[in-house]
Amino acid sequence: MDDHFSATSRLRLATPSEIRSAFREDVAHGLQQRQKTIPPKYFYDQQGSLLFEEICRQPEYYLTRTETAILTQHAAAIVESVGECALIELGSGSSLKTRLLLDECQRRQDRVHYIPIDISASMLEATAHKLLEEYPHLRIDALAADYLTGLSVLPAASCRAVLFLGSNLGNFSPREQEQLFRQLAHTLKPGDFLVIGLDLRKSLEVVEPAYNDAAGVTADFNLNLLGRMNRELHADFDVNAFSHLAFYNPVQHQIEMHVRSEREQQVTIRDLALTVAFRAGETIHTEISRKFDLDEINAQLAPFGFCPRIRWSDARSWFAVCLFQFAKPHDSEV
Ligand code: AVI
Repeated sequence: MDDHFSATSRLRLATPSEIRSAFREDVAHGLQQRQKTIPPKYFYDQQGSLLFEEICRQPEYYLTRTETAILTQHAAAIVESVGECALIELGSGSSLKTRLLLDECQRRQDRVHYIPIDISASMLEATAHKLLEEYPHLRIDALAADYLTGLSVLPAASCRAVLFLGSNLGNFSPREQEQLFRQLAHTLKPGDFLVIGLDLRKSLEVVEPAYNDAAGVTADFNLNLLGRMNRELHADFDVNAFSHLAFYNPVQHQIEMHVRSEREQQVTIRDLALTVAFRAGETIHTEISRKFDLDEINAQLAPFGFCPRIRWSDARSWFAVCLFQFAKPHDSEV
C-alpha cells in the first residue's frame, strides 16, 4: 500500500484475482450438494449491487432506514468515541451511511483515512472516486476482496475502527461469524474499535415482508444470481422457470432465502462442464439473514477480546449500532 498522501495519490484500489476463480469453485461445489447452495457474497456483481441499493429504498425494507436514522442522530457520539482512528469498512457498497460518519470526521480532523473493503470492485471504484471529489481531506485505500482476505492485507494505521454496518453479519453462518471474529482479533490491536450494525429480533409480520417486497426487487436480486451464472459462466438457466422464496425461521431467528425451480429441468453450466438436474420445487439456498439478540452477541464476541462499550438504538428497538473495544482474546481463541 502507498503511504504517501497527496491530491493525486489518495486512492489505491487492490483487486485480488481470487474473487474470479472463487465464484467458479463455489458454484461447482454448491450445485453438487444435496441442498444446492450458493454463498450470498455472489449477489453483488454490478447489477446485484444496484438491485441491493434499490432494496434499501423499498418501504418494507426497514433495516437501512432505521440504521440511517440511528447514525444520523448519533454520528457525533460515534466519531467522538473512536477518535482519529482509520475507518475500515467491511461491505462498504455505496458508502451512503458511512458518509454520515465521514461528514463528522471531516468536521473534526485534518485528515481522514478510509479503507473500504467490498467484493464488488465496480461499486468500490465508482464510490471511491465520488467520495474523493466530495471530501478533500480523505485518503482511501480500497480493497476489492472478501472480508477475510481484505482484513489480512490492511495498510498500516496507528489506530483502527472497523465498521460492519447494515446487519451484514446476519448473512454469515455461526461458523463464518466465528472465523471473522478470529480474523478481527488477529488484525486489531488493543484499544482498536469495532462498530457493528445489527438487525434485532422482532415480529415475523415485520421481518418477512422486508424480504418479500411488493415491487419484487428482492426477487430480482435473488434471481440475478442465475443471471450472473449465465453471464459469467455461460450457464443456460431459464430465469423465468425459477422463483424467489424467502421465509422467517423463528427457531433459528433468521430469514432463509432460496431460488426455487418451478418445474423439473436440467441446466448446463458450460464453463464448468457441468449439467445440474432440478426436481420441481427443488431450491438453491442463497442466503440466511440472522436477527440478533444483544446479550447473545456480547457473549459471542467476548472470548475474542471485544468488550461492549456503547450501543445506540431506535425507539422501537428494531436495530442497534454497537461499539466494542478490542482488548485481548482469551488464550484459547488466539
Ligand atoms: C446485506 N444484507 C444485510 C441484506 C440482508 O438484509 O440480509 C441482504 C438482503 N437480502 C435480501 N434483502 C437484503
